[in-house]
Amino acid sequence: MATNRKKLQHFRKMRDTDLNDVMQLELLAYPFPWRRQLFEDSLSKPSYTCWVFEHENEFSGYLISSSAAGEAHILNLCVHPKLQGKGWGRKLLAEAEWIAKQHRADTCFLEVRVSNHAALHLYESSGYNEIGRRKKYYPAKNGREDAVVMAKSLI
Ligand SMILES: CC(C)(COP(=O)(O)OP(=O)(O)OC[C@H]1O[C@@H](n2cnc3c(N)ncnc32)[C@H](O)[C@@H]1OP(=O)(O)O)[C@@H](O)C(=O)NCCC(=O)NCCS
Repeated sequence: MATNRKKLQHFRKMRDTDLNDVMQLELLAYPFPWRRQLFEDSLSKPSYTCWVFEHENEFSGYLISSSAAGEAHILNLCVHPKLQGKGWGRKLLAEAEWIAKQHRADTCFLEVRVSNHAALHLYESSGYNEIGRRKKYYPAKNGREDAVVMAKSLI
């Protein structure tokens, strides 16, 4: 008899007790990861939203965003490498936009490395437009790298 294995997906608020999992994934997913302190600060700010995504009961991703004065900023969006390319990033992004709307944001902003083709493709195909560049914004292997600044109207 075939096993009926239920696939569990779950978005929930990040807790302090998630920070070890968050850091483990952050170090795995980014060449220049955030420091733990940045996540701690994000968790402590009322205008910040910190969510995690679980898949089959495993810690699989997270998003950090902030909302104030009608603007939302997506600050970190991360999917575990073994689950990338399966649509979870797009779902997390939609979740971030839904949360931004709950906070009455009408525009969502983000920044992304010019070399991050996966993220750029995700954002462009989700309706984000380039509105500018920040020169040498990120540390990179050979010096610094530009950030593409993107925005999407949520109205
Ligand atoms: C960027 C990231 C969140 C995307 O999540 P994901 O679950 O892999 O993305 P999805 O599966 O939802 O794919 C979204 C789109 O991006 C495309 N994509 C995924 N990986 C890609 C890659 N390596 N190169 C180009 N396009 C890619 C998919 O094909 C899909 O487009 P489609 O629907 O037109 O086919 C994920 O790769 C990640 O966590 N990367 C490390 C952290 C990071 O860079 N975060 C972004 C910081 S700005």
